Amino acid sequence: MASDRLLGRKAIVTGAASGIGAAAAARLRADGATVFTADVQAPDSGAKVDFVADLTAPDANARLVQAAVAAMGGLDTLVPCAGISAFHPLEGHDDAYFLRVLDVNLVAVFRLIREAAPQLKAAGNGRIVTIGSTTSSHGDEGLCAYAASKHAVLGLTKSVAAELGPFGVTANCVQPGAIATPMTAPAFADMPEFRTFWENKAALRRLGQPEDIADVIAFLCSDDARFMSGHGVWVDGGAMVRH
Ligand SMILES: NC(=O)c1ccc[n+]([C@@H]2O[C@H](COP(=O)([O-])OP(=O)(O)OC[C@H]3O[C@@H](n4cnc5c(N)ncnc54)[C@H](O)[C@@H]3O)[C@@H](O)[C@H]2O)c1
Repeated sequence: MASDRLLGRKAIVTGAASGIGAAAAARLRADGATVFTADVQAPDSGAKVDFVADLTAPDANARLVQAAVAAMGGLDTLVPCAGISAFHPLEGHDDAYFLRVLDVNLVAVFRLIREAAPQLKAAGNGRIVTIGSTTSSHGDEGLCAYAASKHAVLGLTKSVAAELGPFGVTANCVQPGAIATPMTAPAFADMPEFRTFWENKAALRRLGQPEDIADVIAFLCSDDARFMSGHGVWVDGGAMVRH
């Protein structure tokens, strides 16, 4: 339900053209935040993305922060949702794809946080909500690169929480389970048994929807979560508590 709990907040949401990022941007706005969106592509819906760029370009995140501050008159919240994933078996897994996954899912997130740190510190109540995965804590077949990147983004988040905590900044990492988005759609279409597996593994017996994650992101951005920092927050419908 919409609220005014994020009134006055000025947020960057990346990966906002699709899936979890699009839902997060919508939820933050519904709760009163001003949101500056970024993605490498414009959304299919025709909705607008404020900053269109490949965020792995070395200067892209510095330019993004500059543009967001200019547009919003400040910046106190980061929600980097941009990410990529695909199944690649270990053998034959080429270097280029492995490094690309780390670049998008980890290095770009690191650069965004680094570039925004002065603004977040100045705000006095900065918020960072990164997007990990159940594979921030577990591995899976064919997910060497993805799981490595998601373990790393959890570690990055914990370190940032430690370093920026004295300035009132919190940093937490949401760890979604299987969510129905354009990222997972091809795998669910090609392998219906994969979809059924995750539906059955969740204690709640369903896939997650982007809004299930966006609502938790908004909570972590709000003052209600002011004393939560440095943690991975599982939002997986109870999938990983089951064998
Ligand atoms: N869908 C799931 O089951 C699931 C589970 C756990 C974690 N996640 C994570 O949630 C985040 C969002 O995933 P999603 O499922 O919404 O996927 P999605 O594919 O729907 O959205 C990802 C967005 O990131 C953008 N993007 C990709 N590379 C980019 C780049 N180099 N620069 C800028 N933008 C880029 C894409 O254009 C896309 O709009 C990702 O970090 C993903 O790893 C998803």
